[in-house]
Amino acid sequence: MIGFPLFPEVASTIARSVDLLYFFLTAVAVFFSILIFACIVYFAVKYRRQPGRAAEQVQGAIGLEIAWAAVPFLITIVMFTWGSSLYIANSRVPQQAMDIYVVGRQWMWKIQHPSGRREINELHVPVGQAIKLTLASQDVIHSFYIPAFRVKQDVLPGRYVTMWFQATRTGEFHLFCAEYCGTSHSGMIGRVVVMQPEDFEKWLGGVTEETPVQAGERLFSEFNCINCHATGSRQRCPQLGGLYGREVELEGGGRTTFDEPYIRESIIAPNAKVVKGYSPLMPSYRGQISEEQILDLIAYIRSLTPEGAE
Ligand code: CUA
Repeated sequence: MIGFPLFPEVASTIARSVDLLYFFLTAVAVFFSILIFACIVYFAVKYRRQPGRAAEQVQGAIGLEIAWAAVPFLITIVMFTWGSSLYIANSRVPQQAMDIYVVGRQWMWKIQHPSGRREINELHVPVGQAIKLTLASQDVIHSFYIPAFRVKQDVLPGRYVTMWFQATRTGEFHLFCAEYCGTSHSGMIGRVVVMQPEDFEKWLGGVTEETPVQAGERLFSEFNCINCHATGSRQRCPQLGGLYGREVELEGGGRTTFDEPYIRESIIAPNAKVVKGYSPLMPSYRGQISEEQILDLIAYIRSLTPEGAE
């Protein structure tokens, strides 16, 4: 690279619009800094102490006062609407986005694709495809940051966060942890590899591993979930097939959506929100199950059809 690049590469669909807003904010700041400094110098010279000239008190200047209130107001309103519309647009995940799970821990990023392929500190994605990341942390707060895509998301322990992006060109891009998370925080880096869809398919197919759904199905019996959540006479807990994405009624009133955060909470703290008509029988799996295993279980539960829980 010749010269000194002030900005990272532009490699995602939103990168340009983020840069434009940033340029606007910078331009406003530079313009007013110059204006203020110019005024200071001009007034210092014009009104310097001179023999035979006394200071003259000025009382009120309505036009000036309205101007210095209205102009900054209008400028900040532009910043606010521009910034928030960009934020809202960027937080809406496109329907057809490809799901990828990410778990952050001291000090690495563990990534799993729906096909089962796992990687550490590397994220392979196809170009031109919206990618939805569901992120969890095994320990402390991390932050998933890809400068070339202009996306950054804090990853918090105890909850799921999502982010999405769509890469616009192939290549390798930096991946950082952008939140101080302990001794080796600076080593929690990696790369994002954007590939042509054919190459990506080839890369995915290169290794056959247990898919998240298969791993989830295995864990579902290993953790004995199947004993209570099965159909038939043994069923003492809600049957999970077909529930994903739906609203469920809760014991003690209220409703909740049966989604990733609810499933996760129900594994860690089962009695927090019990489905209507059931008793709080389920033990907590806190400390016995890793974030990755929970994500596998969720993938399995998502895959279940109403009759398929057995
Ligand atoms: Cu993880 Cu800093």
